[in-house]
This record gives sequence, C-alpha cells and structure tokens, in this order.
Amino acid sequence: MQATAISKRTSAFYKDVMKGLRSSPKFLNSKYFYDERGDELFQQIMGCDEYYLTNCEMEILKTQSADIVATIFASENNFDVIELGAGDCSKSVYLLRQVSRRNKNFTFFPIDISSHVIDLIEEDLPKKVRDLNIKGLNGEYIEMLKKANQFSHKRKLILFMGSNIGNMNYGQSISFCKEVRSCLQPGDYLLIGFDLKKDPQIILNAYNDKKGITREFNLNLLRRINRELNADFTIENFKHFPVYNPESGECKSYLVSKYKQKVSIGDTEIIEFNENETIHTEISTKYSVDQINEIADLTGFETIEHFYDSKNWFVDVLWQCR
Ligand code: AVJ
Repeated sequence: MQATAISKRTSAFYKDVMKGLRSSPKFLNSKYFYDERGDELFQQIMGCDEYYLTNCEMEILKTQSADIVATIFASENNFDVIELGAGDCSKSVYLLRQVSRRNKNFTFFPIDISSHVIDLIEEDLPKKVRDLNIKGLNGEYIEMLKKANQFSHKRKLILFMGSNIGNMNYGQSISFCKEVRSCLQPGDYLLIGFDLKKDPQIILNAYNDKKGITREFNLNLLRRINRELNADFTIENFKHFPVYNPESGECKSYLVSKYKQKVSIGDTEIIEFNENETIHTEISTKYSVDQINEIADLTGFETIEHFYDSKNWFVDVLWQCR
C-alpha cells in the first residue's frame, strides 16, 4: 500500500499532472491521452466522418507509396525504417511493403508512447509484411530514436506521419525537427505528415465530431487521472471545448469547469477550479506549404518532394538531411 502511494507521488505522470494543474492557466500534456482506453478512442476518432486527416493520408499512402519509395531508392538501396508514433501502422504498412519488395534486409523500428500499441504491432505487422524484421521501442520520440541508432548503423528513413507534429506549436516543431536532425546523418530521409490550413469550419468539426467521440477522448484524460492517480474528478462537471484560430493555424482543445469545484488527487492534494476555468489539453497545428518549407530550411533538411491527397488537405513531405 505504501509502496504504491510513493510510486504514485514520484511518477512522471503524477508530477506532470500536478505541475499542469497548479499552473495558471491550467494545462495537461496531450501525450497522456494514450492509455489503453485512449488508444481505443483514438481508433474510433480515425473512423469519424469529420476526422478527415486519416482518410487523406491513407489516400496518399495507398496511391503514392510506390512513388515515395522509388524516389528514395533512386539514391539509396539499403536503409532501415524508423517510425515515430507508429500507432496501428495502418498507413505505414503500404510504405513498408514497397520497401520490402526492393530490399529484404531492412529492419523496422516502430516507436510509440503506448506499450500496448507496441505489443500489438509486433504481433500483427509480420502477418501483413512478408519477412519483416521488426523491433518495437516503447517510449519518447527522441530518447527512442537515439536507442534505435544504437541498433542500426545504416542509412535511415524516419516516418513521422498522421500530423503527430501538429501536437507542437510552430516554435516547438522547429526545435523538434532540429533535435531529430541532430540524431541523423547527411543523406538520411524524413517523411513528415502535415495537416494543411483549409476552411476553418472543416478543421473545427474534425475536433468536435457529432457522435462525441473526441469529447470522450478529451475527458478520458480526467478518467485516467482518476484511475491511476486516485483522483475524484466528476467527469460531467467538465465540458469539451475546441477552438480553431485560422490565423495561427492552432486548433486548441480545452476542458472547461462548469462550476466552482474542488478535486482531490492522491491522498494529499486538492486542486480548486473556478466556474469556467480552463484546462488546456491539446494543440493540433495546421500549416501552409510555405511554412513547411521554411521549417525544412531552418532545421537542416532539403525538401525533396511534396505528396498531396486529391483535395490538397494534407501533405506528406519528403526531406533529406543536408
Ligand atoms: C494524433 C495528434 C494527430 O491532433 O489530430 C485527434 C490527435 N486529438 N482528435 C490530432 C487528436 C483529437 C491527433 N494526432
């Protein structure tokens, strides 16, 4: 009993939650959405009519994987593939099949924050891509990228798809791309999926689906805190509220306290909320193509090619390390 209490008090999750809820304004890190229930809800979000991102990128990979891989093989025929935030690999599988047609000797390193997800991929993916060498890494992007570097000494193709980069603001995405670049060698490739600026209503709807799955996904963060940190959030007392700023391209999601209320976390901590006080839980940044090219310039990459869906709503860009 005591051991559990101590590990709760010292876990990174606990520390981050307390830091965010003691700040003003309050915030929680979106990486904590993805427990087992969160993974399941995100799968359902990807199936929502309003959540166009997955369909757009799926179209790109289904129809242009051969082109993407051919572009890389034009200069390089022996490389390993590392995927940051691999999820269910339902999109990357198309690329991996193309790579494996041309080179049987590559290794695929999926990286994900969810250990549950890594177990699933290691079990499932070898059934979908013949002769696949796979080594899953569970943890944070950069830490695990460094770990993958210890196993692989080949040229690399890094995949960072699904608009996962959207979970950073513009400045953070620049620091992040610099950090990724510092783990790579000249000639290595990076394929990144960016969600593009478009009709702001279409973007807002994608984060406020009619069935309320995104709302559940956002509220699941409070449920997770209840489950894992022994807190007593009353879920109905918080409202899911996304906003999109078409100028900055930032879609931000909040949980808004409906009432003045107190919540206890663990055995010792009390957090107070005013009526209408916010918790910022997620950012999903949308980009223009000019901004994307600028990020490449500023972070040590050369833009090789843009791969768009037929509506031009989403882009997977291929960059090469300078
Ligand atoms: C997995 C980060 C790409 O921001 O669009 C979907 C997560 N959040 N609906 C996104 C998410 C709410 C998603 N990413």
